[in-house]
Amino acid sequence: MRPIKYYPKEIAFRATKYLLVLMTGAPKWHIATTYNKDYSAAVISYLNNCLNQNSSVAEIGCGTCDILRPLECSHKIGYDSDPRVLKAASILNAVLFEKIRLYQFDFTNNQSQIKWNFDVVILINWTHEVDINILKNGLITILNQINDGGIIVIDSVKSKDYKFNHNIETLFNGEDVVIDTIFSNKVRDIYSVTPVR
Ligand SMILES: C[S@@+](CC[C@H](N)C(=O)[O-])C[C@H]1O[C@@H](n2cnc3c(N)ncnc32)[C@H](O)[C@@H]1O
Repeated sequence: MRPIKYYPKEIAFRATKYLLVLMTGAPKWHIATTYNKDYSAAVISYLNNCLNQNSSVAEIGCGTCDILRPLECSHKIGYDSDPRVLKAASILNAVLFEKIRLYQFDFTNNQSQIKWNFDVVILINWTHEVDINILKNGLITILNQINDGGIIVIDSVKSKDYKFNHNIETLFNGEDVVIDTIFSNKVRDIYSVTPVR
């Protein structure tokens, strides 16, 4: 049972996101709020236990920054391939007085144009659209550049409704990494992946 104060907050947030989607033309998926996504809550709570105020976090495919915003650190960067989504995210962040740097970037194009020297790099809820070889190349680029002690947080899906059901062991096959499962439900697993150096 949710506390009573949940409902006005959820209604107001959903209405704001609905308007932003109408204004920017961003896909309707972005109307949904984090409160109803168990996997987002799991990632946020896991990371807030590892981060400190000076930590740096990048999210690739950040959408409207619903995962980035609640993270308790001061250096946050969101990358997304869709300029309409970035527009919606930047308005929402401004309204909520949240400072997140946003950049348009397609991970399938040229992963080396970004220096991945962050403490955390998040890739959630879109890699099921990306071919394994492209994804693997990009992940190796990140692994080689991520800060010492840094982690990649990535999901994989296990449903025929998605284009690719990646296997986490195959994705990081041949790399010296520690993989932990931080969340699991019927369709999705979320992992933290730490390079061993
Ligand atoms: C379903 S949303 C998930 C947003 C956020 N990660 C979350 O879980 O709340 C997927 C986002 O990834 C972005 N995206 C999809 N493919 C991408 C790519 N190749 N590079 C960067 N962003 C991508 C989409 O534009 C969209 O905003």
